[in-house]
Amino acid sequence: MIKKNENIQETENSLKLKLQDIVVGRNNEIEAIKMQFDSVWEGHSAVTVIAGDIGIGKTALVKTVLSDLSKLNGACVYGKFELYKDKGPYIPIVQIMEQITNYMLTLPEEKFNRIRKKLKELGRDKALITRVVPQTQRIMSSTGRIKDSDYQKLKIRMEKAFQTFITIAAQELYPLIIAVDDIQWADIASWNIIKSINDPISNHDLYMILVYRNNLEKYRTKVKSMLDKLSEKKYLLEINLESLTTEEVKTMLREVFSGDFENTDELVSLIYRKTVGNPLYIKQMLNMLLENKGIYYNPGVKKWCLDSCKAKDINLLDTIADIVNRKIDRLSPEAKELLEIASCIGSRFDLGLMERITENQFQRLKENLVELCHAGLIVKVFEHPGTDDTGKFEFFHDRIYQNIYEQIEADRKEKLHFDIAIELLNHPDKIYIEENILPITAHLLKCKISSKGKV
Ligand SMILES: Nc1ncnc2c1ncn2[C@@H]1O[C@H](COP(=O)(O)OP(=O)(O)O)[C@@H](O)[C@H]1O
Ligand SMILES: [Mg+2]
Repeated sequence: MIKKNENIQETENSLKLKLQDIVVGRNNEIEAIKMQFDSVWEGHSAVTVIAGDIGIGKTALVKTVLSDLSKLNGACVYGKFELYKDKGPYIPIVQIMEQITNYMLTLPEEKFNRIRKKLKELGRDKALITRVVPQTQRIMSSTGRIKDSDYQKLKIRMEKAFQTFITIAAQELYPLIIAVDDIQWADIASWNIIKSINDPISNHDLYMILVYRNNLEKYRTKVKSMLDKLSEKKYLLEINLESLTTEEVKTMLREVFSGDFENTDELVSLIYRKTVGNPLYIKQMLNMLLENKGIYYNPGVKKWCLDSCKAKDINLLDTIADIVNRKIDRLSPEAKELLEIASCIGSRFDLGLMERITENQFQRLKENLVELCHAGLIVKVFEHPGTDDTGKFEFFHDRIYQNIYEQIEADRKEKLHFDIAIELLNHPDKIYIEENILPITAHLLKCKISSKGKV
């Protein structure tokens, strides 16, 4: 309930933030996943594949599951393929390997030394890993050059090296859980590594969760052929994620409004009609309703209420693209520009880099970012629930990121990629540059025209 003198705007904003975090339902799926995970305790490797439409809640489910499994002492790592994969190859592999490295660095000395000893098995092939994931140098030194002019042989050596590394990790960090999101965007090289990790000849038991979007025929065909090649199928669970039920939507609304909504049933039925229970749509829709006062606070009854006329302004046929575009139109020019720069950095970006790229030309950078959060376009990243602010942000959803990125004019896009690459290269810390060599290369590849005149 709102106190008399409380600022309604502030309450609306905190409501929007609450809305971003809330997750409801999915109990059956979580149970099924936990049962599958039990087979790892029993000494098997297992794979779960989660499929579903855009915005249906695949990523949210995986993150919930990882958080639950980490409480059961699982070492959980997460990697995600990107839509514009030419922005950087091996993205999820790098993410996964970095997180595993971080886990290893927290181990007691005795265990850590044992891992280092085991990693020596890799011999010269350590360099094949450290070249792709420079952060792994923190746990294994790599000297010597990689000598193999035969590309095919080099490729096999590299897959084998990753396989060995993960086997060691799975033995020492048991139980290791690796989640890979959006495999419909996988590149062949990365997928071959994931496949080799799942090879049953590897002497390890790990749990892998693979997630993909199945709304397009091309994604379904691609993923089917990828999964067909996975050799270990005995412990394979497939989950097709469906829409939320009306009851679950009701629970979500009750939690967001702390039970202070005048007529929840009317709101549920309106929302359900418009969104068919897709949580991404539901959350965007609620955010818009708060913005156009279709949902407003009525101090007379001390409750949130629905203004049916205003609520109907949100067109039934609105697609997520329409919703995003309308939101962007309403942004201040600065916030809009920031959003474009962010989309060129990637689906995730950090404040420090943003400050350097914009050379402090934005007086109100932080306020602009807050504006974008309130509009439901970006969210703050907390690495683990309840941990400190990381200074990182990510797009609320890939669909929003895609929409913004695709609308930037080609010349401007190239210039932005160029500026980002230069900024990364100008970083005073050499290690930082080394660790970011893949994204730097990818940005440079995206700005070949602008760079010609400048370099
Ligand atoms: N079970 C759920 N309950 C509430 N909100 C959810 C749920 N699942 C997803 N969401 C929200 O819907 C949005 C899209 O979910 P996401 O997991 O990113 O979709 P996907 O990965 O399937 O495209 C996110 O903002 C997320 O918070
Ligand atoms: Mg997702």
